[in-house]
Amino acid sequence: MAGRLSPEKPDSGTLIPLCVPEISGNAWAYVRECLDTGWVSSVGSFVDRFERTMAEYVGTPYAVATVNGTAALHIALLAAGTQPEEEVLISTLTFVAPANAIRYCGAWPVFMDADPQYWQIDPEKMKDFLEKECQWRDGGLWNRQTNRRVRAILPVHVLGHPCDMEPILELAQKYKLTVIEDATECLGARYRGQMAGSLGDIACFSFNGNKIITTGGGGMIVTRNAAWASRAKHLTTQAKSDPVEYLHDEIGYNYRLVNLLAALGCAQLEQLDTFIARKREIANTYRRAFADLPGVSCMRKAEWAESIDWMFTVFLHPDVPCGRRTLMNSLQAKHIQTRPLWCPLHRLPMYVQSQGYRIEMADRLYEGCLSLPCSVSLKDDEQKRVVDAVFSIVRGQ
Ligand SMILES: Cc1ncc(COP(=O)(O)O)c(C=O)c1O
Repeated sequence: MAGRLSPEKPDSGTLIPLCVPEISGNAWAYVRECLDTGWVSSVGSFVDRFERTMAEYVGTPYAVATVNGTAALHIALLAAGTQPEEEVLISTLTFVAPANAIRYCGAWPVFMDADPQYWQIDPEKMKDFLEKECQWRDGGLWNRQTNRRVRAILPVHVLGHPCDMEPILELAQKYKLTVIEDATECLGARYRGQMAGSLGDIACFSFNGNKIITTGGGGMIVTRNAAWASRAKHLTTQAKSDPVEYLHDEIGYNYRLVNLLAALGCAQLEQLDTFIARKREIANTYRRAFADLPGVSCMRKAEWAESIDWMFTVFLHPDVPCGRRTLMNSLQAKHIQTRPLWCPLHRLPMYVQSQGYRIEMADRLYEGCLSLPCSVSLKDDEQKRVVDAVFSIVRGQ
C-alpha cells in the first residue's frame, strides 16, 4: 500500500482497534508447557529464560522480571537509592506510572517540558533548570525552590522514539544524578546505535497489552549494576533472606512475574524484530499518506534515533478547524479507535502542587496529538480506511 489511498471502498463498520496484541509463534506451546507441567507460579524456567533473553537483547548483564512495569519502576527507583523527600526529574508528557512510582518511594517528581521536535524530555530546558534553579551543597544538588535534594533523572522514551540521551547523561554526570530510563515504549529502539534501556544506570520495561511485546501484564528491570540487580530481585521477592526458612530482612514486595506469563514473554520476544519491522512499515505508510494533508504532521524521527514506531501519532495544527477532539470523535463514529496523548502530569490533581519548569510544548502537544491504529496485525485495507477517514474529517468533507 503506498501514498494517498483511493476512496472507493466504503467504511465496513467493523472496529479498527488502536493497538492489540499479536499472539502467535510459540505462545501456545510455551504456555501449554507451563500448564502441563504445573509450573505456573512465581518461579520456573521461563522466568529465568525471559530475564536472560531480555538482558541479552537490551545488552545489559542483568534483568529482573516483575509483575508489571509500574512495579519495575518502583523497584528500580528503590534499588538506585531514591530516598523520601528527594526529587526526580521527569517529563510532564508521559504516562502517569513513573511519576506515581516516584511518589511510592516518598520522593517527588519535578516536571520538565517535552522538546518541540521529537516530543521527548527537553534536555535544553533541563540544563537550564539544573543551572538556574539548583545549587551544589553538601556533596549534592539541591533545588532552591523546594530545598529538596535532586537525586535522579527519569527519561521516559515515549511512543517508540528514544530521548536525546547524550546531553542527559552529561548533565547526570556533571551533577551526580542517577539515570533511570523508562524504556517501556521503546523496546528495540536505538539511540546512536545503542539500545534504549542500556543507556542509563538502570531501566524498566512494561509488557502490558498494548506494548510491542506483551505478557498480558508484566515488567522488567535491566541494569549493568550487579548489586542493584540483586537488590531488585530481593525486594521483588518479599525480601526473603533465607532460601528455606521464612526469614525476611526488610519490608519487601510480591512483585515477581509468574512463569505462565514469562512463557508468553519468551514467545513474544522471539517475534520482536518482526513486530518492529511491521510497526515501521505501518508508520511509513501513514507518513507517506499524510505528507499530502496540510495541517497534519507526523511525529518526526531524529537522525540519531532508530525509532520502533510503537504508537503512531499525528499532531493536528491549531488552525485546523475540526480540532483533535472532533477528529477523535468522528473517527470513533466511523469505528476507528484512537487515543489522545496523556494529560500533562503537572495538570493532574495529585501533581498540581508539584514543581513544573517552563512547560509550554507539552500542553500544545496534548491539545493537538492523536494516536492512530497501529496494531502489528493492522491490515492494509484497514489502514486505508483510517487514512481516508482522517483526510475527509480534516478537510471537512
Ligand atoms: C512509559 C510507561 N511506563 C510505565 C507503564 C506502566 O506499565 P504497567 O501498566 O505494566 O504497570 C506504561 C504503560 O502501561 C508506560 O507506557
